Amino acid sequence: MFPAWNPAQPEITDLLVQYDPGTLQRLPVRKQQLLDVFARFGNHRASRAVTALPENAGVLDDREIDALLLTVHWEMQRLAEEFYHGHRVWELLRPVVTSIRQAGVRETLRIVDLGCGIGYTTRWLAAKISLTDHNIEVVGMDFNSTLIAEANRLASAEGLPCRFLHGDALSGEHSSHILVSTGVIHHFRGDALLDFLRRHERRETQAFLHFDFQPWFLAPLGSLFFHQLRMRTAIARHDGVLSAARAHHARTLTEAARASVPGFATGIYGSRIWGTPLPRVFHTLIGLRPDLVPGLRRELGRHVARLGELR
Ligand SMILES: C[S@@+](CC[C@H](N)C(=O)[O-])C[C@H]1O[C@@H](n2cnc3c(N)ncnc32)[C@H](O)[C@@H]1O
Repeated sequence: MFPAWNPAQPEITDLLVQYDPGTLQRLPVRKQQLLDVFARFGNHRASRAVTALPENAGVLDDREIDALLLTVHWEMQRLAEEFYHGHRVWELLRPVVTSIRQAGVRETLRIVDLGCGIGYTTRWLAAKISLTDHNIEVVGMDFNSTLIAEANRLASAEGLPCRFLHGDALSGEHSSHILVSTGVIHHFRGDALLDFLRRHERRETQAFLHFDFQPWFLAPLGSLFFHQLRMRTAIARHDGVLSAARAHHARTLTEAARASVPGFATGIYGSRIWGTPLPRVFHTLIGLRPDLVPGLRRELGRHVARLGELR
């Protein structure tokens, strides 16, 4: 295996920005600390990308790092557009919303896009779906205040009826009926994955949908091809391929969910192409309250074949 594809290591963007977990205040990040991490994995590609990062006396320059992260997220948005990600989310979200309605919930449903980055999914939903007709509200949340400021700027430039909040989407302060995320869950591994899922167990939460890359032996190669073609920053190219290598298998996700949140029926949606053994690029960890399962199956129509066992 190439050192840059070793799934045991973190992605560069996981380390670029660090926060105080209580206040979410930015903490100084020493470049040498990052170089030491990638030296341990013999990952020269990551080390070269980190060496080139702007710094002041060995500490990464926050403003420059924010500008770089914005560029990376603009590039990721282009991929999301090309992969029709908004359509993918709504295909599953719509029947989930309907099944919650059929169970008798009348209030406005709050859908929180956890780790929204610059908010592509949230803005797509606000632009393409009549939120009033469905009586839903869409909110994007992220730990990173720069990404949230950019998401708010884009939503206001586009005149979209959605909001973006800086904060922890799983904290007690923010409630959600449905949690969605894209490209987030593989960042949580081992005990951190169990803890992340455990924090979904809230009285008002009816469902969660975590969209992420599906691992496959050719996925890092496919990702390498797309990232070389479409991404310009060394960091996006590096992390894009590593995230395909770090993506969780369906079994890891379902076992973690069943151990952490037994109050939800959980399974995988959309893992195979048209009933063939060929894997889709994305799969979704879905969890919903058990009484909603029959309604979801009905509402999925012919797409019910894409739904794995929910338990
Ligand atoms: C790879 S980025 C996701 C990008 C974005 N979803 C997209 O598709 O462009 C992962 C993000 O998740 C955020 N994050 C992780 N856990 C979170 C939580 N509990 N609440 C809010 N943001 C979270 C991190 O701050 C990070 O920006």
